[in-house]
Amino acid sequence: MTWLVTGGAGYIGAHVVRALVRDGQHVVVLDDFSTGDAARVDCGARLVEGSVLDRGLVGRVLRENAVTGVVHIAAKKQVGESVADPLLYYRQNVEGLVALLDSCREKGVDRLVFSSSAATYGLPDVDLVDEDTPGVPLSPYGESKLIGEWMLRACAQAYGMRVMSLRYFNVAGAAVPELADTGVFNLVPLVFQALTSGQRPKVFGADYPTPDGTCIRDYVHVADIADAHLAAARALDAGGLSATYNIGRGEGASVLDVLAVIGEVTGLDTGYDVVDRRPGDPARVVAAVDRIREGLGFRAQHDLRSMVESAWAGWPSRP
Ligand code: WQD
Repeated sequence: MTWLVTGGAGYIGAHVVRALVRDGQHVVVLDDFSTGDAARVDCGARLVEGSVLDRGLVGRVLRENAVTGVVHIAAKKQVGESVADPLLYYRQNVEGLVALLDSCREKGVDRLVFSSSAATYGLPDVDLVDEDTPGVPLSPYGESKLIGEWMLRACAQAYGMRVMSLRYFNVAGAAVPELADTGVFNLVPLVFQALTSGQRPKVFGADYPTPDGTCIRDYVHVADIADAHLAAARALDAGGLSATYNIGRGEGASVLDVLAVIGEVTGLDTGYDVVDRRPGDPARVVAAVDRIREGLGFRAQHDLRSMVESAWAGWPSRP
């Protein structure tokens, strides 16, 4: 089978490409390099520069490579940026998916794995968030992912496509140092940046209704994210039906838990400053992971320390 991976030169996309290539799948990558890096793309994959919005290019790539399925990861993904510039997110994430689906339908590509997000849930007030938890996203980013899921469901019903939407929780770590996350937008890289630039990490609020007062998230290793995509691709190739799955560990860790592991791994002083809460931060978002285990036989294998160790190994600087 041949899979087109859009956004395959990005942090998560490159891990997915690596997993597919190692599984013996034929892989073509489409990436506009807005945030991706060609050096991340596994040498076993063909690389095409361009945007999913370019219908002519996408149609050619699908046809010339006899693509049988698409893993769609290319998207803008910064929550704060989406609030400041919603049209950028609706254009790239929603209009981009419409263009891709048009091309797939025209070329007879009938299976798609979609990069969705825990951000679709918004402020879930449950201990474990299962896939039937109502999605009330708080940002244009989260909205764009939920709209994407709705579009895919309608296309599956109308055109006979088979789609799997994968809702990532908090992704961290790296399979190999050279694929580490270079975007400094999430907790682990932000703490690394503070520690390696002589600053103290900031904790966005310590007055949440949690055991230590800081927010709890479900951190999941990017290598597990990649393996979940491989499991979904294989299932679709084997005739699997459409589904929506959380990808997480099913276990929560607080901001202070993460800081403690970072201190152990780096040996650095993780003394922190508590600052104001970040607007829109839920106190707790932890995945229920039964459905993906039952549906795909997938269970995350890596723990928080493995995520921090592998991320630190790929961090470019030391204090
Ligand atoms: C984690 C926790 C912060 C930085 C992310 C992404 C989104 C989506 C879901 C995929 C929060 C706290 C952070 C810092 C802190 N994933 N924090 N100090 O907001 O849970 O959502 O995962 O689509 O991509 O937005 O992740 O890493 O920003 O924050 O205290 O310097 O760490 O308040 O509680 P978040 P995050």
